[in-house]
Amino acid sequence: MDARIAPGSVRKVACVGAGVIGGGWVAHFLARGYQVTAWDPAPDAKDKLQRLVEAAWPALTELGLAEGASRENLTVAATLEDAVGEAEFVQESAPEDLELKLDLLSRIDAAAPDGVVVSSSTSGFPMTDMQQRCATPERLVVGHPFNPPYLIPLVEVVGGEKSEQWAVDWAAEFFDIAGKHVIKMEHEVPGFIANRLQEAIWREALHMVANGEATVEQIDSSITAGPGLRWPLLGPCLTFHLAGGEGGMSHMLDHFGPSLKAPWTRLEAPELTDDLRDRMVQGCEEASGGTPVAELVADRDRAVIEVMRAVDKIKESR
Ligand SMILES: NC(=O)c1ccc[n+]([C@@H]2O[C@H](COP(=O)([O-])OP(=O)(O)OC[C@H]3O[C@@H](n4cnc5c(N)ncnc54)[C@H](O)[C@@H]3O)[C@@H](O)[C@H]2O)c1
Repeated sequence: MDARIAPGSVRKVACVGAGVIGGGWVAHFLARGYQVTAWDPAPDAKDKLQRLVEAAWPALTELGLAEGASRENLTVAATLEDAVGEAEFVQESAPEDLELKLDLLSRIDAAAPDGVVVSSSTSGFPMTDMQQRCATPERLVVGHPFNPPYLIPLVEVVGGEKSEQWAVDWAAEFFDIAGKHVIKMEHEVPGFIANRLQEAIWREALHMVANGEATVEQIDSSITAGPGLRWPLLGPCLTFHLAGGEGGMSHMLDHFGPSLKAPWTRLEAPELTDDLRDRMVQGCEEASGGTPVAELVADRDRAVIEVMRAVDKIKESR
């Protein structure tokens, strides 16, 4: 099987499941000028979807709508088959239930035109597990978004054992054209990248609450008044690159390497081998494009100030 259409020629997108994430995808695709067909079996799904799109539209307008973008380009289909029968791309966002996804994805696969890529919003199921019942599993991929998909740019794209590379490449290119920030993963890992990281914090937060070590408020403000302010600009690796001062990641690892053995988390840290150390140092060099630490610091500081101002403005307007 080959792709039916070039990623840049897609006009018709189907969204199956129209809750928080599916509705968010609908809003995103409408704002980018696509014709969207949605299907969701819940009796009140149409009203909920319309409310979600209405609520998202001011933010999308503020960000800038694509030419021809309109809420009028949404059709709520009566059946799954109507929704995907003429689609040029399908995004599935039904509940996180493996049996449900196995059944639903095989129905989508049977109803969507040949060569149309089908992507799942799953938060953590590997596509290998979800594509088992599909007649043409090669065109199925994961396209994992973050809530709300119309504002948070990230989508993680990865195939399963039966997915073909063309489908993964096609989806990555399509999402990029549709205005997302794409991470195309080479390997299937449960939870992908961002959810594994998010989950590590989440599990530790639950440990702390369960043990009475910190309150929910303390945990949340420890992030929003702390490291969260750096993260809009620098991920966890470059944040620690700067924690090493002029010596960057190499000083940071030499200085704080022993702390990896301290009981700072219930997650077991990996052995800090020379290979891991080298990969971290090299990774920071590459990710920062060789930009000197001082310049990264100045950029980070400006960004943190801008983000703080933006957050304050929102709080004051409540
Ligand atoms: N909520 C998040 O932050 C988040 C983030 C990323 C990915 N996801 C993933 O997105 C998917 C949807 O999650 P959500 O948070 O939007 O859930 P949700 O409960 O808000 O929405 C699920 C929707 O699916 C509909 N539905 C139920 N059975 C269905 C079926 N058989 N076929 C089609 N639709 C059906 C429901 O009526 C509902 O509207 C899940 O796989 C979830 O893991 C969620």
